[in-house]
Amino acid sequence: SYPQKVRIVEVGARDGLQNEKQPINVATKLSLIHQLVDAGIVHIEAGSFVNPKWVPQMAGSADVFNGLQRQRGVTYSALTPNMKGFEAALAAGASEVAIFGAASESFSQKNINCSIAESIVRFKPVMEAAQKANIPVRGYVSCIAGCPYEGDISIDKVAEVAHTLFDMGCYEISLGDTIGVGTPAVIRRIIAATQQQVPIEKLAVHFHDTYGQALANIYAALELGVSVIDSSVAGLGGCPYAQGASGNVATEDVVYMLNGLGIDHGIDLDKLIQAGTSICQHLGRSSGSKVAIACQG
Ligand code: HMG
Ligand code: MG
Repeated sequence: SYPQKVRIVEVGARDGLQNEKQPINVATKLSLIHQLVDAGIVHIEAGSFVNPKWVPQMAGSADVFNGLQRQRGVTYSALTPNMKGFEAALAAGASEVAIFGAASESFSQKNINCSIAESIVRFKPVMEAAQKANIPVRGYVSCIAGCPYEGDISIDKVAEVAHTLFDMGCYEISLGDTIGVGTPAVIRRIIAATQQQVPIEKLAVHFHDTYGQALANIYAALELGVSVIDSSVAGLGGCPYAQGASGNVATEDVVYMLNGLGIDHGIDLDKLIQAGTSICQHLGRSSGSKVAIACQG
């Protein structure tokens, strides 16, 4: 049966924008974040502290954090792959950080320049420093249903990496279908296996919609009791290290489905659509949300 309530983790300002080639200034990012929070988003990924040579679009993340008009009860999180990133996130006042690993060796190498085992070694001091600073740490596992470099990924590896991150102290593990290749039966198997290692209430799903399967996969995850969903307003996004990967599932589409299922989420769909329209106008592109397009005629 479905959960009664779902928490949306809005990743548009990070996953959504990180792959954009055109410069996006800090004011635009702040305006997006503020509109999303005004729409009822309580958990937002606002940036990432990675090497700006690797991901130029996230270079201004410290300025984004410093410019936030923070609202009580809202989590503003950042990706931090190592201590350098963590220290910068802490200095900028991130209320939560995320470490990001993968179930694929080759993706780990391309994305964060080290093996899976080495990534865990790099994450340990981040975890310790975060615990000292009282900052919750979220853990990502990328490539759960397939890798852009090596294809099939073993479900056991997904469960193993998820378990390692959870065991280290991550309060929640987000399962990433980075290239959106999963289908509901596969996703069910992955969650069923991972759930043996990490309690279902500690699992989140992070689906890219490359093959149009994201909403169906979320529905499958909801049926298994998953109650945390990552999504991106207007379906913005793509990973620079996963060629051809399109955006995350659109938050508007998730909210519309949750409304139909009678699942509580706390988000105002009209305001959310407005936030998506603003950023799309700014980027000069049409929305990746079917719901946004339908509602605007
Ligand atoms: P590295 O080269 O192994 O790091 O990169 P290093 O420690 O050897 O340092 C080399 C240089 O990087 C040095 O600079 C460091 O100062 C600098 P230099 O002396 O050459 O001028 N450096 C940093 N600079 C800023 N912030 C830092 C940092 N660390 C080192 N934190 C590193 C390792 C992870 C930094 C690099 O590989 C990198 O930045 N990768 C980008 C990863 C990324 O952002 N990927 C996209 C996000 S993940 C994603 O989208 C998937 C997800 O959505 C889930 C899903 O969909 O599955 C989360
Ligand atoms: Mg992603």
